[in-house]
Formats: sequence, structure tokens, C-alpha cells
Amino acid sequence: MKAEAFRKHFPIFRDSVHLCSCSEGALSDRVIVAMSEFMTSWRTQAAPWESWMEEVDRARQQFARLIRADEKDVAVVSCASEGAFHVAWDQDFTKGRSVIVTNDLEFPSVAHVWLAARPRGADVRFVMQHNGVVALEDYINAINERVALVSVPLVSYANGFRFPVEDIAKVAHKYGARVVVDAYQGAGVIPIDVNTLHADYVISGSLKYLLGSPGMAFLWVRPGIVHGEDPALTGWFARSNPFAFTPRVLDYAADARRFQTGTPAIPAAFAAAAGMSLINETDVHHVFTHISALADTLQERVQAEGYHLYSPDQRDQRGPQVTVWADNAEHLSDYLRKRNIFVSPRGKAVRMSLHFYNNEEDIEQVVRTLADYRNSTRD
Ligand SMILES: Cc1ncc(COP(=O)(O)O)c(C=O)c1O
Repeated sequence: MKAEAFRKHFPIFRDSVHLCSCSEGALSDRVIVAMSEFMTSWRTQAAPWESWMEEVDRARQQFARLIRADEKDVAVVSCASEGAFHVAWDQDFTKGRSVIVTNDLEFPSVAHVWLAARPRGADVRFVMQHNGVVALEDYINAINERVALVSVPLVSYANGFRFPVEDIAKVAHKYGARVVVDAYQGAGVIPIDVNTLHADYVISGSLKYLLGSPGMAFLWVRPGIVHGEDPALTGWFARSNPFAFTPRVLDYAADARRFQTGTPAIPAAFAAAAGMSLINETDVHHVFTHISALADTLQERVQAEGYHLYSPDQRDQRGPQVTVWADNAEHLSDYLRKRNIFVSPRGKAVRMSLHFYNNEEDIEQVVRTLADYRNSTRD
């Protein structure tokens, strides 16, 4: 599907500019239909669990397809933090490998899960960012034979910095450490192929660039990995047969479903499958080229208006976000929102994120309004 056709699936663009996929992707006509199908099935069929579970599998399949994985290696979880919990629990920090390497542009919730592994022996080390960039060299210097797990986001939520995941992962593997990639801020717009990524675990949730709703996330686990302790957070959907109904038997599924817990969020499954079906009808390489070109223009134009970048200005370090510093980020975002332009403030920065549905007109509108804001607050 081409960009223009893709955009037509998102009614918000009839009267608004959506530049906040880093927070929540735009609602598509396809997701509206899917969620109303869920409501209709509930109203007319009372408890159609079989077809609802098929929808969960459809979401799993769409995610697997997106990252070039086998669906049996994908667990459906409730949120990225839950996926991270399973990754931490899968490691043994007591046998000479105690270190988790992460960084201070990590999404806090994921970092919190690493910190919460300290009572199990984990020693968490943060690689520092400098001017919004985490240097490859600093990451590499933090990796040695005492490292159990290296956590590398695909893209930072804070400013869109795109990590050199493969370069870091290769070094981690050289030292026998495992690699977890939080792909939440890139999956859907940055091509991911688990066959070449050198990761052991990939986590993503469905609500941002995957164009679904809150309530569902995915954990891909490299096939053949030797698991640690059986997950302490579990439930019937982690059993080899969830419908065996045997309370005394705690077996774990042989595939990635071992990391699942209880009843999945069915409405979110409808949204996730529908959202990702749109992405899977595009070529994500083409999507990334499209958004990179828009980001080039946006970056250049906002700088010309006197804004300073928090996102990296180098193309090879930039994800789908252009982020500018703003002392009063909330105020600026409100100003834009009142003019139907949706961006995402975080602290003293305003994040403007791009998806395949964005076009040059969106850039034009936001830049013009940012200039107006500048003029209205100046004197
Ligand atoms: C990089 C990244 N990871 C994880 C999350 C969310 O984690 P969870 O699904 O546990 O709320 C976000 C949400 O903003 C994120 O940007």
C-alpha cells in the first residue's frame, strides 16, 4: 500500500494533524470496524471464546509476520513491562553473570523491571547519554563476561535516538550475554528482522506505531534458548493445554506461550490484529524511507524557526521522532492541541512523531503553528 492510500484509513486527518504515534497511534477505520465486530459478537453470541481466542492468535501472527518470526516464538502479554519481567526471570544472576546493562534513555518501566531483579542477584549498570545520544563505545565498554543481559531499546521514547542494536548485540553475544530489544518506539515503522537482529528477546506493545489499542504486548523469544527458572508469574494460558483444566498440574508450554498468564485482553486483540494488518500491507522499508524524509524536513524547518533539537540531528541516529526542547512543553502542546495538532510533551521536550500516514502538509502546518507560538510568546 502507498502512503496516500494508507492515510485515507485514518479519519483524524480529515480535520487534524496527528504527530503523536510515540504516545498512541492514530485510529484507523479498520480498527473501528474490528472493535465494533467485537462488540457485536459479545452482544449476539454471548460468550464466543473460541472466535475471540482466534483473534488473539491473529494478533500474534501479525506481530510474528512484522518481525519475520515464527508465531510459536511469540508470547502475547498484557504490557511491555510484563514481557520485561519474563526476560529478567529467565536469567540466573547468581552464577557469575550478575550484570544487566541498560542506559538512561531506557523507558522507565523497563528499567524498573531490571532494578526489581536486584534481590535475585542482578547488578544493574546504566550507560549514560550525552546530548541525547548513547555512544556505541560506552555500551561496548560496559559489556564483559560478567554480563547476563544487555538491554537495548530500538529507539528511545525520550527523544527518538535510534540505538545501534546490531552492533551492540554482536558484542554482547561475543561475551556470552543475552540481548533484549524493547522495540516499542520503532516496531511498525522501522524494519525488524529477528533473523538478523542478533537479539534473544524482542518486546513491543500494540498501541503506538503498531496502531492498536492499549492492553496487549508481545514478547518474541529466540527459539532454542535455554530457559532459566519457570516463570513465577503464570496462568492457564501458559499451560501446554490451557483447556485441560487440571489445577494440580503446572506444566509449561514448550513454545513462547510459556510466558503468558491469564485471559488476554480480547478487545485489544481485535484492535492489534486490525492495526498491524494495515502495516503488514506496506513495505516497512518504504515506510521508514517515507518518515525519514519527513523528519529531515521537519528537523530543518523547526531549527530555522529557532527551536533546538533534543532528537539526534544525524539521520543514522534518528528514529521516527523529531523532538525539540521547550521550557513550557505542556503549554506549547496545549497551544497546538487547540489548533488540532497533536504532539506529545515529555518533561521539557515536545515529541513530534511520524508514521506512514503523515505527509508534507502535516509538517507545514505544525511548523507554521510552532512559528506562531514563538511570535505569540515573544515580547
Ligand atoms: C520504549 C517503551 N517501552 C515500553 C513502554 C510501555 O511499557 P508498558 O507497556 O509496560 O506500559 C513505552 C511506553 O511509552 C515505551 O515507549
